[in-house]
Amino acid sequence: MTGGPTRDAIAALTERESHRVAVVLGSGLSDVARSLTGGNPVPYADIAGIPVSRAAGHEGALYSGEVAGLATLVFAGRVHLYEGHDARVVTSAVRTAATAGCDTVILTNAAGGINKGLQVGDPCLISDHLNLTGHNPLVGAEDARPHFVDLTEVYSRELRTIARSLDPGLKEGVYAGLVGPTYETPAEVRMLRTLGADLVGMSTVLEAITARALSLRTLGISIVTNFAAGITGEPLSHDEVKEAGKKASERLGSLIAGVIERLR
Ligand code: HPA
Repeated sequence: MTGGPTRDAIAALTERESHRVAVVLGSGLSDVARSLTGGNPVPYADIAGIPVSRAAGHEGALYSGEVAGLATLVFAGRVHLYEGHDARVVTSAVRTAATAGCDTVILTNAAGGINKGLQVGDPCLISDHLNLTGHNPLVGAEDARPHFVDLTEVYSRELRTIARSLDPGLKEGVYAGLVGPTYETPAEVRMLRTLGADLVGMSTVLEAITARALSLRTLGISIVTNFAAGITGEPLSHDEVKEAGKKASERLGSLIAGVIERLR
C-alpha cells in the first residue's frame, strides 16, 4: 500500500510487532483512546504517511495498547474530504491498520440523527451506508486490488450481533456520508430520510469501502450528537457535537472494549 507508514515503522513507534484490531475515533471521541489503551500517544505529525487532522475535536494521535490481550491500534482523529484531502488520504488510517496486520476495524463517528427513534447521546450501529460524497477511494488505486469490491455486507453482521449481545438496546441504522463541511439543510435532511438514511455525517463511508477492499471486518458505530437540521428546528453547532461526543465517550469505550474482548 502506497504512502502510509510501513509495518516496521508502526512496530518501532508502538513497540508492538503487529496489531490485530484498529479503532478510528471521530469528533469529540478521542477520550476513548486513553481509556482503551492507557495512553502513550504518538502525534500524527511525528508519523510519516499519516495526515494531520485540523478539524476541532480531533486529537491527531496514534495510540497502541492491549485490549483483552489483543494488540489494538487507536487512531484518535481522522482527516476528512472537507479539509481538502482526496479519498486516498482520507482512508489512510484504514490502510495503515491493514499494514499493521489488523483484521478488524472499528470505525466511529459523530452523526446527526435523522430517524426520530434515535436519541441524542446514544450509540447506533451502522447497518449500511449511502456514499453520497461523490468520491470512491478505489478510483485510480495503484495497488493490484480489485475495483469491483462486493459491498453487500460492508458492516459485519457478526460484529453487530456481538455488539448487540453486550447492549441489547443498541439501535441500527443507515449512515449517509456527505462531504460537508456545512451541515445539511432541512430539505436535504428530508431527502436523506426519503433515501433511507437514519444518520448523517461527513466521514466513515470511504474508510469502510477501503476496509472491505482490504478484507478487514468492519464495525461502524455512530454517536448521535444532535438531531439533523430541521428535525427539532434548533440550529446546529460543532461545539454541541463535540460536547455530546465527549459525554458519550465512556459508554462508547466500554462497548468497544467489550466487542474486542469477544473477538475470535
Ligand atoms: N450532519 C452532518 N455531520 C454531522 C452531524 C450532522 O447533523 N452531526 C455530527 N456530524
